Amino acid sequence: MANILIFDSGVGGLSVFQEIQSQLPMLNYVYLFDNEAYPYGELKPEILISRVTSLVCTIVERLNIDMVVIACNTASTIVLPFLRQQLLIPIVGVVPAIKPAALISKKAIGLIATPATVNRKYTHDLIDEFSPLIPVKLLGTTRLVMMAEEKLRGKRVDMAELKGVLSPLIGQIDVAVLGCTHFPLLHDEIQTVLGLDVTLVDSGLAIAKRVRDLVQGKISLSKIKHLGEVQKQHFIYSSAAPWEGAALNKGLQQFGFSPVQTFRLQDA
Ligand code: DGL
Repeated sequence: MANILIFDSGVGGLSVFQEIQSQLPMLNYVYLFDNEAYPYGELKPEILISRVTSLVCTIVERLNIDMVVIACNTASTIVLPFLRQQLLIPIVGVVPAIKPAALISKKAIGLIATPATVNRKYTHDLIDEFSPLIPVKLLGTTRLVMMAEEKLRGKRVDMAELKGVLSPLIGQIDVAVLGCTHFPLLHDEIQTVLGLDVTLVDSGLAIAKRVRDLVQGKISLSKIKHLGEVQKQHFIYSSAAPWEGAALNKGLQQFGFSPVQTFRLQDA
């Protein structure tokens, strides 16, 4: 097993990639993002299901992918069963970290996610199952997703604006769930606004451990060592036209990716 595909609507999945790569530094990573249809938190479920299954299945076949990580809560909370019907390789998804949050909260949890994720039945089922006693305050925001995208392109985070977005949760919670993979990219800024007495939790490390266990179950350690000598990374861009390409490529360098390549579903 060598090629892992990490998928998100935008740059948010890079926060998950970082966690996975620190567990498994010697594998090949392909990152695919669907900026053409971003933001996913505003999409109708049928469109989301059809886009994600077409994009992911096409890349899996074309690039000989061994494992898929859907590094997007908005997609994972609805698309995983459809994807698993089409692909035989392991597929790992990411969902809001309500369970670990409920284990540490003594007051109230704030779930910060996309508008779609906070409305999903999947999310409400998670809350009912894992946090029956601790109240969960929901904050659905697309603006925060955009702020993370802008930060990766070198734009300064406007702390006053961030405070405005998070204001319904300030002083109300002791644990915040970063239920969108874009938000760990704003971890320090969110921590500053919510205060040091609020614990921030996300699903990145848990997903990385799951991927590590799956990979180690399928491949011998000696083969992984050998792969370290031929390590390669790619970045694939799904929309037709480059989108703030230079600034984006600069931001991506810090994650070790090569410049963005365009991938168009209609050309596949
Ligand atoms: N990063 C995605 C998530 O985890 C979604 C962002 C968006 O496109 O709205 O939900």
